[in-house]
Amino acid sequence: MRRLTVTAALALAFGTAAAQAPTPPMGWNPWNAFHTEVDEAKIMANAEALRRTGLADAGYRYVNMDDGWWRTRRPDGRIEVRTSMFPSGALPDGSTSMRPFVDRLHALGFKAGIYSEIGRNACSQAWDRHSPNLPEGNTAAREIGTYGHQAADVALLLGEWGFDYMKVDACGLADFTPEQPWVRDGTHRVFGPWIVRGKPDAESARRVEALYAGLRKQIDAVRPDGGVVLSICAWGEARVANWAGRYGSSWRTSPDIEPTWKSMLLNFDSAIKRPLYAGPGHWNDPDMLELGHGEFDEKHLAEARAHMSLWAIAAAPLVLGADLTRMPQALIDIAGNREVIAIDQDPAGHQGVTVMRAGDTQVVARTLAASGQKAVALVNRGSRPRTVTLPLARLQLAPAATVRDVWTKRERGVDGVISVELAPRETALLLVRGRPLRPGHAYVSELPARVRVLEDGSAVLSTAQAAGWVPVQANAAPSGKPLTLRGAAVAEGIGVLAGSRLALRLDGEFARFRSRVGATTATRGALVYRVLADGKPVFEHGGPGPVDIDVAVDGVKTLELVTRGEPGRLVEVAWAGAALLR
Ligand code: GLA
Repeated sequence: MRRLTVTAALALAFGTAAAQAPTPPMGWNPWNAFHTEVDEAKIMANAEALRRTGLADAGYRYVNMDDGWWRTRRPDGRIEVRTSMFPSGALPDGSTSMRPFVDRLHALGFKAGIYSEIGRNACSQAWDRHSPNLPEGNTAAREIGTYGHQAADVALLLGEWGFDYMKVDACGLADFTPEQPWVRDGTHRVFGPWIVRGKPDAESARRVEALYAGLRKQIDAVRPDGGVVLSICAWGEARVANWAGRYGSSWRTSPDIEPTWKSMLLNFDSAIKRPLYAGPGHWNDPDMLELGHGEFDEKHLAEARAHMSLWAIAAAPLVLGADLTRMPQALIDIAGNREVIAIDQDPAGHQGVTVMRAGDTQVVARTLAASGQKAVALVNRGSRPRTVTLPLARLQLAPAATVRDVWTKRERGVDGVISVELAPRETALLLVRGRPLRPGHAYVSELPARVRVLEDGSAVLSTAQAAGWVPVQANAAPSGKPLTLRGAAVAEGIGVLAGSRLALRLDGEFARFRSRVGATTATRGALVYRVLADGKPVFEHGGPGPVDIDVAVDGVKTLELVTRGEPGRLVEVAWAGAALLR
């Protein structure tokens, strides 16, 4: 019975989600350019521009609508479309529908995306109060979010209207507190709050999770084909990045992006430290691209290339947000660089992992599907020129390799060390083709898409810790400090909290699993480490360690790494040098 349950749980962990977004979704969304002041004509013009520019062929295939499309919720619960914005939605019988709009997009070969809300009220009702396109009617009619309407709204948007992609925001859980002016004046009902920005308490996070879990259930009921992308938009709050991979195709890891270098880096950082949470079907989302705006416009092409490079190395969704009908060719070329897109869309789905960080420079490496190939971003975050040197060994590659710069298209052979001079705010994105340093050997930290976090042990984290820590990290401790094993530095490994359970997808491809495991610092108290192969215990050790593990895993589909500590006690643990051998 237990074996069955384990197998079923693991099938769920790795199985079904990939159908919705096997690679990070790519497309266009009007929000960054137009906010709620968009209409069907502008969207269709951008869809045409995607085709004309070749961006559609390059992979940008979702055309999404954001906040503002809804006019009112009728007394019977059905949402009416704002037909002044979507004229095709005014049907001859007086009813309204988004189906004609979806059909127009489908006819052009696009997938269609829509926007909704997990609470009662939408973000525009709090933060865009001067918008001419706010929901209308009495208080109930203006409750345009899915709260209390999940089944009916999902049936309408994804069933009747046939949208393929649903972005679901969360302002309704955060911004309708008694003291907000738009609540005090009686325009909207009080809600919670269940989200207090920057203060993710565990109980509220559980409630938020339950709402998105409910939504996913409705989506699967309406579209059992699994063809719908659910984009969870809780801006990295409510501990969302720890749990959203169970329900969402992607989830925002940070606040709304702004067209500034600082905001772009902040959002990148929020995603790049979470490689072990992403993989086919479930992606960290640092928000839409700001190419064409502010510090990423045609006067800032180095920054624009950096932005695009960082999203690609992070396996982030690529959703353009500028008005493409006026986008300069130089920026179309950046968005449409096929080699950069190929890195973002690499079928293995391993997100990049930071392998070096020194001052303003950072190196992020991403294992690609083709054997011996890595994508590497060498990042200059600062405003002075820098030189970055990277030993190929740090990429787990043998000394001789070919390096191709996917922006300049220059290719060269390197021996031992890659050295690149970077202008201020420049990122070099390289495709490195070499041979494995140790044939048949891969660190788990190089293969993040093979990891699913089944339990993260994060219940012990205080609200303040939960805001900054990442419960399961590659090459770092959950606190974000460098990874150690009883105080000694660890270069490659997985940092976890006691109380965690990770599943590694082996698919019968490996012969041995090797690791050292132990508390990151000297500690007393009960700790147990366990390794299970397809549900069967193959290793167990009691005590803080460190202790060596070397087990055969021939034919094993799923390997679980389990740590158990004293309930309520915070202990950081390193799976140091955790590696799979063929
Ligand atoms: C939030 C989201 C944005 C956008 C707006 C719409 O701020 O994070 O991406 O959808 O709401 O109001």
